[in-house]
Amino acid sequence: MKIIFASQNHNKLNEIQSQLANYTVVGLDQLLFPEELQETGTTLDANARQKAQQVWDKTQESCFADDTGLEVDALNDAPGVYSARYAGAQKNAEDNMNLLLLNLSNKINRKARFRTCISLCLDGVFYEFEGICEGEITLQKLGEKGFGYDPIFLPNDSKRTFAEMSLDEKARISHRGIAVAKLVNFLKNKSFVA
Ligand code: IMP
Repeated sequence: MKIIFASQNHNKLNEIQSQLANYTVVGLDQLLFPEELQETGTTLDANARQKAQQVWDKTQESCFADDTGLEVDALNDAPGVYSARYAGAQKNAEDNMNLLLLNLSNKINRKARFRTCISLCLDGVFYEFEGICEGEITLQKLGEKGFGYDPIFLPNDSKRTFAEMSLDEKARISHRGIAVAKLVNFLKNKSFVA
């Protein structure tokens, strides 16, 4: 069965596909969806919903979107919903991590969490799922895998950052992994295959 994931991020798509084994998860670039989706909300929920709505409006097909933010305690939960463009409109992961490390350089409390909101649209009806992963920001970048802020995020009870984990290891404990597990469960209970 096919389900559209309203994203052009291949890293996210790979993470999600590994959990949605009975679905073919189709990303936006496979759909020839040329325009970038609008993402103008002030909350993760609103952005996820906005992205899913745009794809539903265009395709009338089952689809879901996610929006993720990194909330850092010592920075009053910034960068949060603005995580992608923390260091500027270029949305560059290295720049974002460097700025975050700089802004935390004089802070003792390095606690942070990733939060993912997923909005699923089935037949024009929307359902929401959330996943949270608690952890802390490391003093330096560690690991080569993953994407975004993965090299500087150390999940609680782990000795390795997300960037030092395999896809499956990350999915078992991550914000997105938790949200997608809820989505999978929901699809099963709805008698969809998942
Ligand atoms: P968005 O959900 O694509 O808007 O992501 C917001 C920001 O968080 C971007 O800078 C992403 O690279 C980053 N991000 C999203 N998910 C993850 C993740 O699982 N690990 C690390 N960074 C992430």
